[in-house]
Amino acid sequence: MKNIIAPSLLAADFANLQRDIEMINESEADWFHIDVMDGVFVPNISFGMPVISAIKKHTKKTMDVHLMIVDPDRFIDDFKKVGADILTVHFEACNHLHRTIQAIKAAGMKAGVSLNPHTPISVLEDVIQDLDVVLIMSVNPGFGGQSFIENTYKKVAQLRQLIDFSESNAIIEIDGGVTDQNIEKLSEQGADAFVAGSFIFKSDDPKTTIKNLKTLVS
Ligand code: DX5
Ligand code: ZN
Repeated sequence: MKNIIAPSLLAADFANLQRDIEMINESEADWFHIDVMDGVFVPNISFGMPVISAIKKHTKKTMDVHLMIVDPDRFIDDFKKVGADILTVHFEACNHLHRTIQAIKAAGMKAGVSLNPHTPISVLEDVIQDLDVVLIMSVNPGFGGQSFIENTYKKVAQLRQLIDFSESNAIIEIDGGVTDQNIEKLSEQGADAFVAGSFIFKSDDPKTTIKNLKTLVS
C-alpha cells in the first residue's frame, strides 16, 4: 500500500469536530489519525475513548489510533470496542513488545509500533515480520505544529531495507511536521503513509491541501 494520507485530528477544531470530520470524509484522505496522550509518556494530554467513539459514528474511513501512553496493554480491548482499525504503540512504552503486538492482532486490529526520533530502526529486527505498520516519529511526540527532523529520511531508507530484506508487509508511516516540502522525499525513501496535522488544518482550504499532498506522492 502506498500514498496514504492520514490527517491528524489533534489539529482539528474540537468545537467543530463534526464539521472537520465531514471535511475529511469528503476529501481524498485515506485514514483518520487519532493521537491519544496520557500526560506520562508525553508531556501532554489529548483525548480518550468517548471522543474516538464519537468520531467512529461519523466515518467509515480507517481509524488509525496512535497511543502515546505507558503500558498500553491495559486498554487494547477498549480501543477495539471504540472502533480502532490500526492500533500503534510506542516501542519506548512497552516492556514486552512482542506480547503487546500479538494482543493487538488477537483483538482484531492491525498492529503498529512507533519509534521516537532517538530510537534506531534496528530495535525492530526481531518483530518486523509481525508488524502491519511502523510509525516513524519525525518530531518528538506530544504536540502538533513542530518542525520536521531531517534525520528521518535516513531512518526511512533503513527501515525500507529491513522490511524488504525480511519480506515483511509492514507499511511505513511518518508522523510529525509533514508538509508539501518533505513528503515527496519521504516517499522516495520508501514511506507509504503520511500523517499531517497543522499543515492540513491550518491551511485555507484543507480539502485541497489533502488532494495536493496525495498528488505529490502518487
Ligand atoms: C505528535 C502527534 C502527531 C501530530 C502531528 O505527537 O503524534 O500526530 O498531531 O501534527 P503536525 O502534522 O502538526 O506535526
Ligand atoms: Zn500521531
